[in-house]
Amino acid sequence: MSSIHILGIESSCDETAAAVVRSGEQLISNVVYSQIATHQAYGGVVPELASREHLRAIVPVVRKALEDAKQTYESVDALAVTQGPGLAGALLVGISYAKALAFALDKPLIAVNHLEGHIHAVLLEERQKGNRELRFPVLALVVSGGHTHLYLAEERDSSWFYRNIGHTRDDAAGEAFDKVAKLLGLGYPGGPVIDKLARHGDPHAVKFPLSQIKHRDRRDKGGNGGPTADFSYSGIKTAVLRYVETNAMQPAIEARRKALSAISKPALEDYLAQCDRKTLDLIASFQRAMVDDLVTKTLAAAREHDAATLFVTGGVAANNELRETFERKAAEEGLPVYFPSRPLSTDNAAMIAAAAYPKFLRRDFAPPDLSAEASFPLG
Ligand code: KG4
Ligand code: ZN
Repeated sequence: MSSIHILGIESSCDETAAAVVRSGEQLISNVVYSQIATHQAYGGVVPELASREHLRAIVPVVRKALEDAKQTYESVDALAVTQGPGLAGALLVGISYAKALAFALDKPLIAVNHLEGHIHAVLLEERQKGNRELRFPVLALVVSGGHTHLYLAEERDSSWFYRNIGHTRDDAAGEAFDKVAKLLGLGYPGGPVIDKLARHGDPHAVKFPLSQIKHRDRRDKGGNGGPTADFSYSGIKTAVLRYVETNAMQPAIEARRKALSAISKPALEDYLAQCDRKTLDLIASFQRAMVDDLVTKTLAAAREHDAATLFVTGGVAANNELRETFERKAAEEGLPVYFPSRPLSTDNAAMIAAAAYPKFLRRDFAPPDLSAEASFPLG
């Protein structure tokens, strides 16, 4: 069982991806076709367009992943596909294709939870680097456009177990980045642009209070009795909107939106040319508040649950300030923290193939009637 090649397929949102991973720890190929250009004009992901784009891209993307890995349809040992959570129509494209391919090739098919995939992106790369000294329990923050979840993760007898100990009550952190960027006329997706612009502003200029989650009562506990560590990001988006209105920033935002949409691929200089000091300060303050909130709550949960290791993964884990702050603050507490490389932070299929490997060893294969689970809890 030392050399098992799994072909992973991911189509849960706006990336069509395929990858080949050897034995859960060697990334052999990784192809991601991003649909950003298609959705950009609408300021967010349009589900019907996403399904159509997946249909168009899935065959060439899988073919390229096999070619890059010097594998063939026949030579891989198993297929893995994202079952959920995600957009139902988008997931169905990947699942239907993977099911048909597995049936035609007479290979096992493994269904993977997308959130478990994000956690395994970290494991895959750490193992690839030769780091096998993982101490348990791991506390994993999965922070993306659709999710802000905290899991305690443990490996026992080659199986993985997850316990959800916190989640967002409303918007996901990535969603807040996207909505604030849209609100400021910076286009879609918002995270990468805000990340680049934030270092040009003063993060102390605008005060955003940390969200305080009030538990309904004392019995409002997470999972097996531990306290919950919940997040909330719709308030900060409203606070940014209020700041924009109070400071009469709308005309400048409209002008920026217009100017940037006239440039096909705006560079940092184009964004900077369109942002005055007040806007840059607002962006920097927003990002600082988001980062502080994510880091403070995650580290409090780590203390509460005696976590031995921290994982930070998902699209927002690509954020520079988030990484720097986690590294600094976790080091102060003697807690090792691991992130995926940036290409494996955002959606990809390598994480799906990696998460499938322990299931392959257990022969935990998908039933023939496997279907999409748009809201698919983990743990
Ligand atoms: O994991 P992902 O590709 O898809 C989901 O599963 O949602 O995450 C996409 C999200 C988007 O909201 C995007 O704005 C955010 O991740 N993102 C970032 C950065 N790069 C991507 N947020 C903050 N800073 C970044 N550098
Ligand atoms: Zn994701």
